[in-house]
This record gives sequence, C-alpha cells and structure tokens, in this order.
Amino acid sequence: MGKNIANTTHTFFFCDGGSCQKAGSEKVVREARAYLRNNEHWNNTHTIKTRCNGRCEDAPTCIVHPGEFWYKELTPEKITHIVKGHINNDCPLETELLFKKGWQKHASDKEIPPFKPKPFELKNDTELGDCLITRGFSSDQYLYPLFLYFAENPKGITLSMAGDKPIPFTEITAVNYAKTYTLELETATDCISLTIAGVPKDNKELQQSKISSTEYFYQKNVNQTGIRFKNKFGEVLGIIKFDSIENLAWKYCTKIQLQNTSQDLTSL
Ligand code: FES
Repeated sequence: MGKNIANTTHTFFFCDGGSCQKAGSEKVVREARAYLRNNEHWNNTHTIKTRCNGRCEDAPTCIVHPGEFWYKELTPEKITHIVKGHINNDCPLETELLFKKGWQKHASDKEIPPFKPKPFELKNDTELGDCLITRGFSSDQYLYPLFLYFAENPKGITLSMAGDKPIPFTEITAVNYAKTYTLELETATDCISLTIAGVPKDNKELQQSKISSTEYFYQKNVNQTGIRFKNKFGEVLGIIKFDSIENLAWKYCTKIQLQNTSQDLTSL
C-alpha cells in the first residue's frame, strides 16, 4: 500500500552511492527509518535513497527538504539528532551542515578540486604522427551526451569503427542508450554498438569493447581534428573526424567535453 504523500512534512534523501556506502550510509538510513517508525512519523515523512550526490569527499551525505539542507559525514548517532531537529522544531543541526540555502560556500574540510582534462600537448603519435593531443573523459556520463550531440549536429562528422568503412554522422538516424552497457547508433541498414558503461571485471569480451580512453587530437600539418577511442588494452576501437577546426561539434568538444582547458590550437 502506497503512502499518502500529500501528508509528507519532511523528506530525507540519503545518498546510496559507492563512497557513501563505503562510509556506512546503510547504517545511517536504518537508524533514521527506525526512529521515524518508532516515533509515529512514518506516515508523514519520506526517506529516499539516491545515487551519488556529487560530494563523495563528505560521505555519507543526506539532503533534507523542505529547506534544502545538506548534511555531511553522517553517523547513526548524528542522524537521529538531525531527524529529530527537523521534525520537531524545523531546526537544522548547524554543526553538521555541509550547505544550506543562502550560504555562499559549502562547509567541507575535505575539499577535492574538480578534475579537469589537461591542455593539448604536442606528441609524436605512432598512428597520428605529430599532433596536439589530450585525453577527455570516458564515462557514459560524458560519452552518451557526446554521441547525442553529434547525432543532433551531424554535419561534417565521420565515424570509423576499427575495420569498418567510415560512416558520416548524417546517416545516423537514432542514438539509443537503453541497454546496460552499450550505446547503439542506428542507420537505415545497420546498428553500431559502443560499450560505454562500466563493465564487470570478469567479462573479457566487454572489457575488450569498452571505451576506456577518449583522446582529442589536432594534426596541424593536415589541419585535421578528431577523437580516438581505445579500450583499456590500448587497442583502437574507433575514430571520429571533423571536416574542419571550425566544425560546430569540434567546438562543442573543446568547450563541454574538455571544459575549455585548451588554448587556440592553431597558435600552438
Ligand atoms: S557517493 Fe555519496 S556523495 Fe558521492
């Protein structure tokens, strides 16, 4: 039987991501739920487990609504005080807060600066020759948006999967990311599968096809920009080429995927 959510006074969002689990989030959730059950607040509150909240360094974390209160470094003891404070007096436990609405900055003692791609570097690459090259991100949180953007802005983009003939992105009719590990690029006659999600360590076939390295390159001598995808064994899985350094999708790559870490490549 579902709860009548119209009666909800407070919602507690507990992070259940990997770092929070390692830091003991399950015990924290159990403690909070037990308190709510035993103090007759079960029917007018809600507890929800979420994926990573983006503050792993402060694990375990939770967010309380109403008010948008973020808590850090939770323990079973602390969560009972926090829950009580919000339910009984609508009062946050200030000393345990990571952030609340109105603060200019979050309160963390463990700040880890965001990881950014390195600027392009001049290299002599075995396959590409002299080129400017850098590595971007290869998680599905980056690769799915990348392929989606290319499908929506396909002009001047060509994909060559290892051993196959190049396909212009204008022939891609759909990008599907509905399967567990693979993204599918559909054409009128074909379907290209790319493994972009984290795969099990014991599955050699998936490890072989998984994109583990995404390199952005510029071959100055031939004025060619592109992306090279490799698996964790260093084998090339595919290459994307753009028709010009002014191509809209290449500009998207440098701005969104590489987070503007590069200078004007033609001047390097
Ligand atoms: S796993 Fe909880 S904040 Fe990242």
